[in-house]
Amino acid sequence: MSPFSLFLAVLALAVCQCVVADSCQNTTISSPSDADLFVSCDKVEGALTVSESFDGVLNLTEISRIEGDLTVTNVGGITKINLPALEKVEGTVTVTDNGGLKNLTLSGLQSVSGKLTVQGNNGLSYVNLQDLEDVEGGLALVGGFSVSLPNIDEVNGDTTIKGADMSCGVFDRLAADSVFTGSYSCSASSSGLSPGAKAGIAIAVILIVCIIAAGIWFCLRRRRTVAGPTDEGDVEKTQYHIFNTKSILRLPRKPFPPKQPSESVPMLDGRMILEATPGERRERRPIYELDAGPQSSHQRPINHE
Ligand SMILES: *[C@@H]1O[C@H](CO)[C@@H](O)[C@H](O)[C@H]1NC(C)=O
Ligand SMILES: *[C@@H]1O[C@H](CO)[C@@H](O)[C@H](O)[C@H]1NC(C)=O
Ligand SMILES: *[C@@H]1O[C@H](CO)[C@@H](O)[C@H](O)[C@H]1NC(C)=O
Repeated sequence: MSPFSLFLAVLALAVCQCVVADSCQNTTISSPSDADLFVSCDKVEGALTVSESFDGVLNLTEISRIEGDLTVTNVGGITKINLPALEKVEGTVTVTDNGGLKNLTLSGLQSVSGKLTVQGNNGLSYVNLQDLEDVEGGLALVGGFSVSLPNIDEVNGDTTIKGADMSCGVFDRLAADSVFTGSYSCSASSSGLSPGAKAGIAIAVILIVCIIAAGIWFCLRRRRTVAGPTDEGDVEKTQYHIFNTKSILRLPRKPFPPKQPSESVPMLDGRMILEATPGERRERRPIYELDAGPQSSHQRPINHE
C-alpha cells in the first residue's frame, strides 16, 4: 500500500467521521436508545425534537449547544429530561403537556435565544435552571414546582412565573431591578400547610404520643401490683410484696402495764381459780358420821373416845 493510498484511506475515514457527526443535525428522538447517536457530538446543528412515542428518560449528557429549537410536547411516556451539559439553545425551549414528566434538569443552560416555556406538565415537581442567565423571547414557568433562577440576568419578552412552595419575593425584586423587560407576573401557590400549622401538628403529635406512652406505663404498673409477684426473678415485685407483708403483720404492740405487787390481785397462771377475799375462811362444817342403823359393838363413834 503506497503512502498515497494510505492517505486516501485516512481521508475517507475522516469523511466518514464527518458523516457520523452529521447525524447530530435536525433530529427527532423516538426512543432512549436514539440518544446514543449523540454520545459523540456536543452540538445539534438544527432542532432537537422528542417524538410523542418516546418512552423513558431523555439522557443527553454531552450536548452543550442546540442551534434550533428544543421541543418536548405531548410526550406522555417521558419521565425525565436530563441535559446537564446544555449551555445554549439558539431557538426556543418548549416543554409542555408531558403528563409523566417529573424531573427537568437543564442545570447548565445559560442562554435561550427564543422563548422558554415549561407548562402543563402535571407531574413535574423538580425543575433545575440554576445557571440560566439570559432569555431573549420571554419566559413562562408554570406548574407545581418551585421556581428558582439564582443567576437570571435578563429576560426580554413577557415573564410568567407560577410555582408551588416558593416565594415570589425574589422575583419581585428582580422585576424592580428591570431584569424582566416585558410584562411580569408571579404567583406562588402553597401546596402544603403553612410552616406554623406544620409545627403545631408536630407538637400535638409528640404530646399525644407521650400521653399514650405514660398511660400504657401506668396501666402496666397497676396490673403488676394487683397480680402480685408471680415471677421470682422480678425483684421489684418481690420487694413490693415483702413491704406489704411487713406493714400488715408487724403492727406496733402496746406495752404491758407494769406488774403491781399486790396480794389482793391474783396472778394469772393459766389455771382457773376461785376468787376469795383475804381473811374470809370457809366455814368448816363438822364432820358427821353417816348413821347406818343400830350400832354394832365394834362400831363406835370415832371422835367419841
Ligand atoms: C427539522 O426537520 C423537520 C422535519 O423532520 C422540519 O420540519 C424542520 O423544518 C427542520 N428544522 C430545521 C431547523 O432544519
Ligand atoms: C445518562 O448518561 C450517562 C453517560 O452518558 C450515564 O453515566 C448515566 O448513568 C445516564 N443516566 C441515566 C438516568 O440513564
Ligand atoms: C432530577 O435529576 C437530577 C439529575 O439526574 C438529579 O440530580 C436530581 O436529584 C433529580 N431530582 C429529583 C427530585 O429526583
